Amino acid sequence: MDTPPVCNYEGSDYQTTFWDQGGRAYEDACEAIALKKLLPPRGEHLLELGAGAGRNTLRYAGFEHITLVDYSRTQLLQARQRLGDSGRFRLVAADIYHLPFVNDTFDAATMIRTLHHMANAPQALTEIRRVIALDARFILEYANKRNWKSMLRYLLKKQTWSPFTLEPEEFVKLNFDFHPAAIRNWLTVAGFKIDRTLTVSHFRVGFLKRALPASFLAALDSALQWTGSFAQFTPSVFVSSHAIGGGLITKADEFFACPACGAGLKNTPPQITCPNCGHTYSVADGIYDFRINPPAEA
Ligand SMILES: C[S@@+](CC[C@H](N)C(=O)[O-])C[C@H]1O[C@@H](n2cnc3c(N)ncnc32)[C@H](O)[C@@H]1O
Repeated sequence: MDTPPVCNYEGSDYQTTFWDQGGRAYEDACEAIALKKLLPPRGEHLLELGAGAGRNTLRYAGFEHITLVDYSRTQLLQARQRLGDSGRFRLVAADIYHLPFVNDTFDAATMIRTLHHMANAPQALTEIRRVIALDARFILEYANKRNWKSMLRYLLKKQTWSPFTLEPEEFVKLNFDFHPAAIRNWLTVAGFKIDRTLTVSHFRVGFLKRALPASFLAALDSALQWTGSFAQFTPSVFVSSHAIGGGLITKADEFFACPACGAGLKNTPPQITCPNCGHTYSVADGIYDFRINPPAEA
């Protein structure tokens, strides 16, 4: 199958090194505030795309069910440790470009700090639109290439690439910063209508983070997030949209669909076999594995 490459987090200690010990209490608090502002108070089934170790999952308190998708099985094992075994959470190892769900399944979705690994962001957004229902809320966080630090570096000639052009900036292999106008365009083409934009992490500056308590900086950030509706110059931007349009195949009886051929699948752990193409998928340690060519575990 011709598909964009996936950034491999298998065996990564991202949650520990980047968040728990990485001095990012301020960013974490700002993101929690933005999510609270954008999330619907309640809902039935939320899809968390690129859930990682489940840092945000407990923030989706109003939802009855949450399906966590991540390409890395070891990230999902960490999420399971954090969340415990509960019928409320379903853990699914899958590629966002080939989601193993039938059309129109979820009434909300979030994708935080994950689009920046997408070499083909429009394709990912189109696939997300396929699995969420009409009117479903979609909260997307993306890394903004046109942030004030990169603009300053560019104007001082300390950076060669322009923050003002529309193409993604791949600053490290499979790590992309995006231009806000490009994101708006891709969302619209994929079938989303943007409702609200929040700028997040206005004060992501080392000396400020060292000098001031994270909660204080996050409160200041919160007071400025609404300005995202007019201009986006922060490194992180949250966009809340809802699914519009139609023309999708009507919702099937099944929940899962074969990521290889799209046929509906019966939920038959510990093994699920596609009645159409014969692909088999395993369910082990509480994790559904719908990766078509899974990488070796570290
Ligand atoms: C930077 S982490 C963010 C995790 C979490 N959203 C958070 O904010 O803490 C990005 C996550 O996206 C996952 N990911 C990257 N590409 C993916 C893909 N194509 N399909 C599914 N997950 C993917 C990685 O495995 C990783 O866990």
